[in-house]
Amino acid sequence: MVKKILVLSGSQQKNGAGAQSIEMFMAKFDSTEYSFETVFLSDYNVAPCRGCTVCFQKEGCIVKDDVPLIIAKMIAADGIIFVTPVYAMNVSGLLKTFIDRISYMLHKPALYEKQSYIIITTDVGGIKPVSFYMRYMMNAFGMYNTGCLGVIAKKIKEDKNYQKKISERMMIEAKKLKDSLSRGKNYKPKFTQILRFNLWKTSAIMKRDLYPGDYQYWNKREWLTQHYYYPVKINPVQKIFLHIFRRKIRKKIEGSV
Ligand SMILES: Cc1cc2nc3c(=O)[nH]c(=O)nc-3n(C[C@H](O)[C@H](O)[C@H](O)COP(=O)(O)O)c2cc1C
Repeated sequence: MVKKILVLSGSQQKNGAGAQSIEMFMAKFDSTEYSFETVFLSDYNVAPCRGCTVCFQKEGCIVKDDVPLIIAKMIAADGIIFVTPVYAMNVSGLLKTFIDRISYMLHKPALYEKQSYIIITTDVGGIKPVSFYMRYMMNAFGMYNTGCLGVIAKKIKEDKNYQKKISERMMIEAKKLKDSLSRGKNYKPKFTQILRFNLWKTSAIMKRDLYPGDYQYWNKREWLTQHYYYPVKINPVQKIFLHIFRRKIRKKIEGSV
């Protein structure tokens, strides 16, 4: 079966370094096995979050724009490649606005079977903080992150040696993403993913009165009694660790509600 990959770009430049990096990366995938769709967020109407928290209390966001359309594309994909330029040592405002708008999906996970990859372009710096943020968010959304590639914008456009070097690196990175995609759904999660699941599960239970929508979402999927979205094996040491972790989270939430 052809694997669907969605490229979600926070770059404003259709012919920029991000776009060029995507082209080079996509060329490492056989078109008979992988299909790509590129979404430039700048082509869509993505309004800023209003901070009303209705999305936490009920089923989803009340703002009427193109975000649900993009979410549907994410859900339909097997893998998602996030592309962003470094803006003021962070992701682009466009991508951050989009992440804010889907942040209710941290509470109501729907992307946990997705493989993800990150491409960051920059003039000089910012790859480290942006990579940290993006990896953290991928994990928080429940996605499996296969890696992150930092690209120097000017060099990818002009420097033949650099292009060759990045192309070789992309070959290795593409193989990692292909391997992850071939494991399919219900793969063995990292323990950090299991911890993240338990964090949001504890939150859904403890904030039941404040955010009933979250509780219903978890309850409907029968996740409230599970260690992870689907059955996984947990060894006795991990079980003890999870028990302590959940107790710690409960105490933290008790102090905040
Ligand atoms: C508003 C803005 C802020 C930027 N901030 C940084 C920065 O903090 N550090 C840096 O090294 N480059 C910075 N850059 C350079 C961009 O990261 C670089 O031009 C971009 O990665 C090129 O990608 P694109 O062609 O896909 O837009 C900034 C560029 C813009 C337009």
